[in-house]
Amino acid sequence: MPSLLLLAGDGIGPEIMSATKRVIDYLNTKGAGFETTEGLVGGAAFDAVGTPYPQDTVDKAEAADAVLFACVGGPKWDEIKEYEMRPEAGLLGLRKHFELFANIRPAISYPALADASSLKREVVEGLDIVILRELTGGVYFGEPKTITDIGNGQKRAIDTQVYDTYEIERIAKAAFELARARRGKVTSMEKRNVMKSGLLWREVVEQTHKQGYEDVTLDHMLADAGAMQLVRDPKQFDVVVTDNLFGDMLSDIAAQLTGSLGMLPSASLGAVDPKTGRRRALYEPVHGSAPDIAGKGIANPIAMIASLGMALKYSFGMNKEADALDAAIAGALDEGARTADIAAGGPTVDTVGMTDAILKQLDLRL
Ligand code: IPM
Ligand code: MN
Repeated sequence: MPSLLLLAGDGIGPEIMSATKRVIDYLNTKGAGFETTEGLVGGAAFDAVGTPYPQDTVDKAEAADAVLFACVGGPKWDEIKEYEMRPEAGLLGLRKHFELFANIRPAISYPALADASSLKREVVEGLDIVILRELTGGVYFGEPKTITDIGNGQKRAIDTQVYDTYEIERIAKAAFELARARRGKVTSMEKRNVMKSGLLWREVVEQTHKQGYEDVTLDHMLADAGAMQLVRDPKQFDVVVTDNLFGDMLSDIAAQLTGSLGMLPSASLGAVDPKTGRRRALYEPVHGSAPDIAGKGIANPIAMIASLGMALKYSFGMNKEADALDAAIAGALDEGARTADIAAGGPTVDTVGMTDAILKQLDLRL
């Protein structure tokens, strides 16, 4: 039986996870056979068991075929200074533990929503790009990572940007393989004009390209110029491959192109496990825990539900169901279902209402 670990986390997490559970239940009525377990992570885990990253959750993730993760963090835990105790440590811990180095963040503009973007319709209409973010290296995890007292009332903060060849090579390969299944174009972004890691990044991406990926077109851009191009003319891109920090920022930009951060799912994939033949995988929305609307039942569940869609595709090979789910989301939007974040002042549905609309559309397709 395919198994999923559900980690609802904080803020709107439990609401969008309940919505997603309804979709899993529906798929099970069609014979998908998913077994689900639940675990604690983030601030919710800190409150319940004193750590945002409980061993029990790691054990459950080890046992599951894939993890569905909602979001973590919020003002309630802002005062926690100790890094390992912050809600985000739960997410970062899982990414690192399972070496989920390839973070696929698609930005797709749903036709019904082209006017919800802050950019002109013609700039975003039909947009279909992927930000491929390196997820287990760079400044997120580099050591030293410290704040020290240096006397005279001064402190010094250090973060370290580190990349080894193998880390760049494996994400570059992932980018070329992804592009092959799409429009065959990769744009690599770094800051080689100021960073050594940018120099090595470009060199290794170039070398990897020559190792049998010449059929894919490869371009390079400095990450700042790339950010500008993403807003100026996003449709010029197919797959953008970049490091952990730039990927964090560029994927938020890409998300906003589509009209709402609430729309974007992501897949974080590790290497194939030789024992099971499966990739380690965690699926999560790109958006955060939205504490300002948490508990109100109005959050947009689309990014979380679409993350399940990515799990169907990448972890379980259920392409028919994944396509039907994507089409159901587009269908619900075509029908006019809008949560507040994408309503542009028009009539809205709540989280449950959006989920109802998606399930209704899904039922027409499966
Ligand atoms: C993301 C988030 C995380 C990140 C936070 C919650 C640690 O912003 O997944 O994009 O910075 O990677
Ligand atoms: Mn982010």
